[in-house]
Parts: sequence; structure tokens; C-alpha cells
Amino acid sequence: MRQPLIAGNWKMNLDLASGRSLVEGIRAGLAELTLPAGFEVAVCPPAVYLFPIAGAIDGSSLQLGAQDVFHETGGAFTGELAPAMIAETGARFVIIGHSERRHTIGHLEDDQMINRKVRAALAAGLTPILCVGEMLDEREAGRTFDVLTFQLSAGLIGVELDAPERLVVAYEPVWAIGTGRTATPQQAQEAHAHLRSLLQARFPKHADTVRILYGGSMKPDNAAALIGQPDVDGGLVGGASLKAESFLGIIRAALAAVG
Ligand code: 13P
Repeated sequence: MRQPLIAGNWKMNLDLASGRSLVEGIRAGLAELTLPAGFEVAVCPPAVYLFPIAGAIDGSSLQLGAQDVFHETGGAFTGELAPAMIAETGARFVIIGHSERRHTIGHLEDDQMINRKVRAALAAGLTPILCVGEMLDEREAGRTFDVLTFQLSAGLIGVELDAPERLVVAYEPVWAIGTGRTATPQQAQEAHAHLRSLLQARFPKHADTVRILYGGSMKPDNAAALIGQPDVDGGLVGGASLKAESFLGIIRAALAAVG
């Protein structure tokens, strides 16, 4: 049985003081909940806050994740961060291939680079949260499954999976990110089931236990219906992860959905 992962992607938001008080609020809320074994909650702050936020979560069940990583182990790559550097902060997860890095930010990451990052992260002991998702025009053209097939397959080229917890996939329909539009639970389930079938072909032993998160305007009031779907195993949460109350609301909704 898969237990949810609720991961907060802070993106380029908050300052250190507000990040710390957000963590304090999440910790206080979590202390009042009983999460089943395997139910995990993570925060993914900007890289410059990884070390101090690692300190802020110390002694709690909260996990730490980074928002990106470079694919080389070291060298003349000004401004980039090697997987071992990310791991040294205490981060366990790293988001790779987020749509804002694929489509919005100047670097325009392609699938080959994303694949190199996934492999490099795994080699350093990090767990990639590999993001995939279609743009609005691709959905409207009926190409959603093709896009997901391509992005997932390309992202996983050459990847060997020794345990299901070493990989997380996030379905993030680009048209639902930061727009207030959410995939319906049925749209999410269809996409997740498709991703699961691809994982089944690729990693027959582990596909049923790899978590597939939904990301795209997940909020306390839509989280239970989304996470209640058979193949939706949690959320990668942007805007609603920036306030303790809304992030905790999603955690509570996930608890209710799996409880
Ligand atoms: P929003 O929850 O703000 O739509 O962002 C989703 C996302 O991109 C998470 O990685």
C-alpha cells in the first residue's frame, strides 16, 4: 500500500525568517496529527536556505528537498550545485524537470539534461522527484499521453531502480500550475494511471510502489478528492505550501483520503 508524500515546493519565495516560521507552524500542526508509517511530508526551500532549514526541521519527521541540481559532480560550472553538495545539506529529495525550468526560466531544460540530472541525483543517493506534464495546447490537441510517455521515458533512460522509494514522479499539468485551475480528479487519475503503466513496463518489480504526486493548484479543498484517486499518491504543492495552515490543510485532507 502506497502512503502519501506531501512536498511543498517553495519556489523562489519567502525569506529565511519566514521560512523558519513556516517550518515552526508546520511542526506544531504535525505534532497534533498521527501519520501512518510511510506517510511523509517534505519542504523544498530555495537552495540557499537548505542548510538553515535542515536545522529548523531537525528532530521532526519533516523531510528536506531541493528544487534542482546540476548533473556534474564538480568543476567549472559557475552557479551550479552538484548532487553531493545538495546531499550534504541533509536533503533527501530533489525536484528535477519542473515545468518552470523546462519552459519558463531562461535555461529551458530539455529531456536529455533532465535525464542526466536524474541519474546524477540517484548516483549521489538523492531521490529525484521527476516532474512531467503537458502544456494546454498539447492537452487540447489530445497529445497529453504522448507528452507524458516521452517525458517519462526520456527522463528515465539508463536509470536502474534498486528500490521503489528511490524515485518519485510528479504529474504537473502546466496549465494548472499557479493558475488556480486544477485537473479534475478524473483527469489526474487518467494521467497517473498512464504514468503507472509506463513505470510497470520499465520497472515491473517496483512500479506499484513508486509514488506519483499530483502538482497544479492543489489546495486544502481539492486535495482529498485528488489524493482519493487510486494512482494519486500525494502532492507537489506550490502556492498552498507557503502558509502553514493551507499546507497542513492538505496534509489533513490526504490523511482523510487514505484513512
Ligand atoms: P501551484 O500549487 O502554485 O499551482 O504550483 C504547483 C507546482 O508547480 C508545484 O511544483
